[in-house]
Amino acid sequence: MTYYDQVAEAVAFLKARLGSLEPHLGIVLGSGLGAVANAIRDPVVVPYSEIPNFPQSTVEGHSGRMVAGLLGGAPVIILQGRVHFYEGYSPLQVTFPMRVLGALGIRAVVLTNAAGAIQASLHVGQLVVLTDHINLMGWNPLNGPNDPRFGFRPGAGLRFFDMTEAYSKTLRGLAKEAAIDEGFALEEGIYLATPGPNFETPAEIRAFRALGAALVGMSTVPETIVARHMGLEVLGISCVTNLAAGLGSAPLSHEEVNETGRWVESRLAGLLQRLAPKIAASVEMEP
Ligand code: HPA
Repeated sequence: MTYYDQVAEAVAFLKARLGSLEPHLGIVLGSGLGAVANAIRDPVVVPYSEIPNFPQSTVEGHSGRMVAGLLGGAPVIILQGRVHFYEGYSPLQVTFPMRVLGALGIRAVVLTNAAGAIQASLHVGQLVVLTDHINLMGWNPLNGPNDPRFGFRPGAGLRFFDMTEAYSKTLRGLAKEAAIDEGFALEEGIYLATPGPNFETPAEIRAFRALGAALVGMSTVPETIVARHMGLEVLGISCVTNLAAGLGSAPLSHEEVNETGRWVESRLAGLLQRLAPKIAASVEMEP
């Protein structure tokens, strides 16, 4: 079966489960950031293990299920947990869930992640909206023949496409408004992705700072690339779970990342609940 057919099979399965619910907004929740899934009204819950061809997360802190329903009154599909390259998944597998979202008719996607802070102004627990990214994963999920059938939005599905505004300015603006309504300020920053799985060395972090990165993590960039290939609008939000290597006093650990995630996830949940209807209304206005 071709990759496209595998996506189509997952989509047919999910469409039957979703019934009349047709969300235009997707949300991917990163490490320890699952709380917002609990705020979904009338949820349709589908474990990844039931979805044909869907990759299964092997990482602690990443549960694997799709939750669809109403968030702040807007229909959304949440992917609670993602898979990473370092788990041994291929670039095509890592981005399979994003292809499925695109084929389901999603027009905008919010990608969240846990990240280490490189920029000195950032502190642990802060939510940061991504302005841009640097792909240092060493691979690209679009490697190989281009399949224009994945261009679900007008003008999308091209071999070569523009990434000048990979992260939508409009959605960034809406996110900042929603944060102010929630009583906090969203910082902005550039996210740099490494393949992981080890945390970086202090020398790498100094190098990444020189490159202009504010945040470092091991996800999101492949999903953004594939989402933009399909013509989706992308909003990226990092949760600063730790200061990057060499900038804090203690060694880095996955426990620290998950622990910080747990106390920030309620703030992220409040933000997304307020933001979902704003984004849904914004994408409805597009052709
Ligand atoms: N580095 C890479 N990935 C991460 C980090 C980090 O410091 N924190 C959370 N994810």
